[in-house]
Amino acid sequence: MDAARWVVCLLVTVICLSCAAAATAAVRSPAARLHRHLKRLNKPAVKSIESPDGDMIDCVHISHQPAFDHPYLKNHTIQMRPNYHPEGLYEESKASSSGGERPMAQLWHQNGRCPEGTVPIRRTRKDDLLRASSMRRYGRKRRAAANPMSVSPTMLNEGGHQHAIAYVQGDKYYGAKATINVWAPKIEQPNEFSLSQLWILGGSFGEDLNSIEAGWQVSPDLYGDNNTRLFTYWTSDAYQATGCYNMLCSGFIQINNQIAMGASIFPTSSYSGSQYDISILIWKDPKEGNWWMQFGKDYVLGYWPSFLFSYLADSASMVEWGGEVVNSQADGVHTSTQMGSGHFPEEGFGRASYFKGVQVVDSSNNLGAPRGGLGTFTEQSSCYDVQSGSNADWGTYFYYGGPGRSSSCQ
Ligand SMILES: *[C@@H]1O[C@H](CO)[C@@H](O)[C@H](O)[C@H]1NC(C)=O
Ligand SMILES: *[C@@H]1O[C@H](CO)[C@@H](O)[C@H](O)[C@H]1NC(C)=O
Repeated sequence: MDAARWVVCLLVTVICLSCAAAATAAVRSPAARLHRHLKRLNKPAVKSIESPDGDMIDCVHISHQPAFDHPYLKNHTIQMRPNYHPEGLYEESKASSSGGERPMAQLWHQNGRCPEGTVPIRRTRKDDLLRASSMRRYGRKRRAAANPMSVSPTMLNEGGHQHAIAYVQGDKYYGAKATINVWAPKIEQPNEFSLSQLWILGGSFGEDLNSIEAGWQVSPDLYGDNNTRLFTYWTSDAYQATGCYNMLCSGFIQINNQIAMGASIFPTSSYSGSQYDISILIWKDPKEGNWWMQFGKDYVLGYWPSFLFSYLADSASMVEWGGEVVNSQADGVHTSTQMGSGHFPEEGFGRASYFKGVQVVDSSNNLGAPRGGLGTFTEQSSCYDVQSGSNADWGTYFYYGGPGRSSSCQ
């Protein structure tokens, strides 16, 4: 081998070795992990629609959605419709008619629709993951369901999750429904959130709590803005290792091509002005055991397969409806993050936020007002409060919410 060839050969070897080293480093680098994580979350799209709020909505083939990454769902045959709806759903008229009378849409509809055979999924961006405290925690809540039976006084001083809710317990529940007034509450700190939702709960408030949740939320950390968004959540181990928001992990199977979870709801209610609300129904299919979700009168969104859960594989033992905020302040200073409209229940319609037509599904698959009415619970009524009632127009209802920090809430 002459000297020149030897040098070339040596150079090639050195370059190849450094290539390999670089490749190895890349696999472990944060940038590469970020890329891999995004690739796992964002499935190839048939079509993408840019929403006026900056979101990208990917129309993903129904059989390529994140649910099918789950090992138990590899051979799953998608159920394209529930076997049963709860009895009594379509007989009711007054309680579910929207205050605004206009159909509630999602903002991205202004720029297009997803074709048949696809499901709309909000694309996760690099910035979404970079905002999260850790990539692994992105899309996950910390411990969040309210236990009305046990309030720890120290929790209130340390900040944390605060609620103003109505609830039922002491029976077996197979679903729940409510019409929820939609607002855009102000969030003081980006790591706080404000939401209004229902919780379908199974088990005690231990390490194995099962929960299915749906409603609207404002969460700058999760979405990067202050828009009000439709969301769902599930967990089968008290928010530890299982579950997530929306479609940010495998679990929920979507069948609907019109509504994207995590997408903005538009318009929202204004103080002393127009009121807008959304209806959410979650129920257990008595035949297959899956938990279904319907949005409004027209959109059956999809289902959580029964096998995701332990207690909820049978039935729920408690249902909660209401608001939750994160108070990130400590040392006796309360956040000014609003719940609902940011006004107390006393102010009533047009000013305070409400849930109306509050109903549960019983073991005979009948939808009806909770027997015995609603219990109510709030950790600190001087910050966020709740008041329930019932009348012929609204059925079982409650007003809830508050401003957070004020002269009466320090
Ligand atoms: C899926 O089907 C294949 C082929 O029939 C089978 O080998 C495999 O065990 C099934 N997987 C699951 C999770 O049921
Ligand atoms: C969200 O609202 C807060 C205060 O209400 C504001 O400081 C912040 O800039 C807003 N964030 C975005 C992304 O608009």
